[in-house]
Amino acid sequence: MRLAFLGPPGSGKGTQARELSRKRGVAHISTGDLLREEINTGSGLGRRAREFVEAGVLVPDEIVLHILSVGLKKADSSGGFVLDGFPRTVPQARALDDLLSASPLEVVVCFRISEEALLERLAGRRTCSNCGANFHMRFAPPKRVATCDQCGGRLTRRDDDQEAAIQRRLEVYREAAEPLTGYYRGRGVLREVNAAAPPSEVGKSVLRAIGEADLS
Ligand code: AP5
Repeated sequence: MRLAFLGPPGSGKGTQARELSRKRGVAHISTGDLLREEINTGSGLGRRAREFVEAGVLVPDEIVLHILSVGLKKADSSGGFVLDGFPRTVPQARALDDLLSASPLEVVVCFRISEEALLERLAGRRTCSNCGANFHMRFAPPKRVATCDQCGGRLTRRDDDQEAAIQRRLEVYREAAEPLTGYYRGRGVLREVNAAAPPSEVGKSVLRAIGEADLS
């Protein structure tokens, strides 16, 4: 299974990629998560990436491609992978084609949802500062306020989930989305799902889009 999930910030790519990874054992490779991990290590690469991530703009390709190729190598032994948040531009899609060479992406799923719904999702998202688990104050609330259900870590709002960075991330997405979806539509691998439904419904749409049976 070689998949990529595309979609605007907050459309649920990470939520669905994690669920698919849990159910099917495929590796979940999120360039956003990998960048945040790199930033937290305080490495030179992380320090360079930080200003871009916090401003809500794309991190330069040389950095993202480096962390992506490390992620793909680690995923080698799994039964495939789902890329979450990569590629975001046509040049990134071409670079991915080169990296994957003989084994290209089989399906690219694009998450469709209104901007109004995205803003509510991003405003209510809380992330565990210890294990990275995701919650939503309205749609997926933790059992105890500001505390992770899985590890007891502290829940915080992502630095780039502040108003100015959210607006910038949406603009960045709008600029690149059509050429990118056009690229994959032209190759016959693009599938679109309604991402505005509840998570379990979106999950079923994703399984249909990738041609997998719903075993749950
Ligand atoms: P990244 O972390 O990938 O951010 P993003 O693409 O903006 O996506 P999000 O993580 O915000 O949203 P999501 O779609 O995963 O939604 P989620 O499942 O969390 O990237 C961050 C930054 O890193 C970028 O801005 C850029 O700087 C850099 N970067 C990353 N990749 C890059 C690349 N390829 N090139 C260059 N730079 C790159 O859901 C959101 C909330 O909604 C959660 O609270 C969740 O619980 C809730 N929710 C999810 N699904 C539903 C549902 N169906 N119903 C109700 N609530 C739901």
